[in-house]
Amino acid sequence: MIELYLDTADVGQVARFSACLPVKGITTNPSILAQADTGLSQLLPAVSMIIGPYTRFHVQVVSQTVDDMVAEAAQIRALPYDIVVKVPATEIGLAAIRKMKADNIPVLATAIYSAQQGFLAALCGADYLAPYVNRIDAMGADGAGAVADLQLLLDRHGLDSKILPASFKNTQQVVEVLKAGVAAITLPVDVAAQMFAHPAVQPAVDRFTQDWQGVFGNKLSFES
Ligand code: G3P
Repeated sequence: MIELYLDTADVGQVARFSACLPVKGITTNPSILAQADTGLSQLLPAVSMIIGPYTRFHVQVVSQTVDDMVAEAAQIRALPYDIVVKVPATEIGLAAIRKMKADNIPVLATAIYSAQQGFLAALCGADYLAPYVNRIDAMGADGAGAVADLQLLLDRHGLDSKILPASFKNTQQVVEVLKAGVAAITLPVDVAAQMFAHPAVQPAVDRFTQDWQGVFGNKLSFES
């Protein structure tokens, strides 16, 4: 089954969506943590309490050099959680990913803006690839198209990296990457809510209630 993540550090929203969806974990980045003003020492145990002991976290390094990234990754992995280390797929980041994979560290290559960049990260051994769909769209290119191309390249070349698309602003972008057959996805909470917020749904449910109560009052279904 596709791995579903929430792209958030908002514990309340994690509780909301993990109640109604099979959420595997959360993805974070330095901006998300800074905006929430929440560090890992607070966030990881709180989210684990909600989702459960098998929660998977994707946590990004903030170091700037290859050696520092690799050392930071080892420290992240030493935390008592299932953590995939996120590394920007820059020239330095790709070098760090190669070293991390030599140490068997699970890695997500992030900040991917093209199929070719994601392909190189896959060649370096990244377990997950995170193309930024809406950010690509916002630059006048085709985010979902880049994801589809990347999935095609992985399939064609027998690479088993999982695409975990990130950066969504609407549900159509989500549907398009799902059609490409991605193995994982991370949704911002507002887009997750849009997924089941079609304006026709609640009126339909209200009509059921109105019709039922008009004939059966407060009886439950099995009492009718
Ligand atoms: O981790 C990357 C993802 O969070 C980017 O999303 O909405 O900032 O483009 P956004």
